[in-house]
Amino acid sequence: MSAPTPATARIELPRGRVGVRIAGSGIGLPSRTLTNADLEKMMDTSDEWIVQRTGIRTRRVVNREAGECTLSMATPALRGALADAKIDATELDLVLCATMCPEMACPPTACRIAAEVGAGRAGAMDISAACCGFVFALNMAHDLIKGGAYRTIGVIGADTLSNWMDYSTEGRGTAIIFGDAAGAVVLTACDDPSRGILAQSMHADGAGWKDIFTPTSRHHFPAGVDPDPRKFGHLQMNGATVFKFAVGTFPNLIQETLDKAGLTPEQVDMFVCHQSNARILHAARERFGLPEDKLYVNIDRYGNTVAASVPLCLHELRAAGRVRDGQKVMFVAFGGGLTWGSSLWQL
Ligand code: COA
Repeated sequence: MSAPTPATARIELPRGRVGVRIAGSGIGLPSRTLTNADLEKMMDTSDEWIVQRTGIRTRRVVNREAGECTLSMATPALRGALADAKIDATELDLVLCATMCPEMACPPTACRIAAEVGAGRAGAMDISAACCGFVFALNMAHDLIKGGAYRTIGVIGADTLSNWMDYSTEGRGTAIIFGDAAGAVVLTACDDPSRGILAQSMHADGAGWKDIFTPTSRHHFPAGVDPDPRKFGHLQMNGATVFKFAVGTFPNLIQETLDKAGLTPEQVDMFVCHQSNARILHAARERFGLPEDKLYVNIDRYGNTVAASVPLCLHELRAAGRVRDGQKVMFVAFGGGLTWGSSLWQL
């Protein structure tokens, strides 16, 4: 019998010959725009309060009467990513849709997206991890390709939080924040093994579930909280607690990921962070002394779009030529669950 491996020993895995690249990106946006001025007419709030506390000026929301939904945004997002990648839908081996707003409990929204884009018999499933959904799905898709079992995977982040909002004064602390959107990427295997994820993390702390939750029955409320039926179907959030969690977690997550990869902040070309609150983003930027153009902010135009937030940023950066092959880019997210995670790429 061989001697047990010392706990401190590092097991070196053979370096795979497969690399993974982000071959294309796309987005899908709903038709309606909801400005702070619109919200002023619906609840007791002001443009000044919203901009000062969150940095949000406007957000996009679905026109439900016209049939707009998670599926109707996610489908063009994946189509756009395929076109950008110059990859035919029939080449997709798998479609992952990160969402907390599936159309129905069954079927998975990803199956319908796959059918809409013409992905044939590709596997398809939804991944539920709130605002971290896209980053978690990205990590999983990367590793499935790296492992050699799959070659091309579509990863979508799509959410329709406007369906869960209370747009009265009662819900103003939450309803001003969220918007609807979808973003997608197509990942594919390549023969340069240096391309792909350099470091990643996925964390959760279920004890924090009660800080962001969507009750639909009186049994969904934490002990001590009035299970008021008027809250059913409306996202409940302890804004101040989540804010504190985010301000602490965000920098730690960035540092943890840099440490895993053995990199300094200066060696990362772009930080693509979940857009939750402009103040949280600015705090993280200051902590690492990053120049303004290295941590992208578009929350002013879209609000917090949950799983769509990171791919929406990525697509805008790629379209503007600010994120390109050869760069190192870190994706970072946190949200309901509570969850937090990262993905640092050599593009
Ligand atoms: N307009 C005007 N006043 C508002 C308001 C609004 N839309 N929402 C809340 N207020 C009021 C509150 O009623 C409260 O009034 P009071 O002091 O008279 O009781 C006051 O503003 C302060 O409320 P508070 O909730 O403490 O504000 P805040 O500074 O924490 O800002 C958030 C609220 C939601 C903007 C902030 O907590 C936040 O961004 N949290 C993080 C949320 C997040 O990132 N969630 C997503 C995770 S993925």
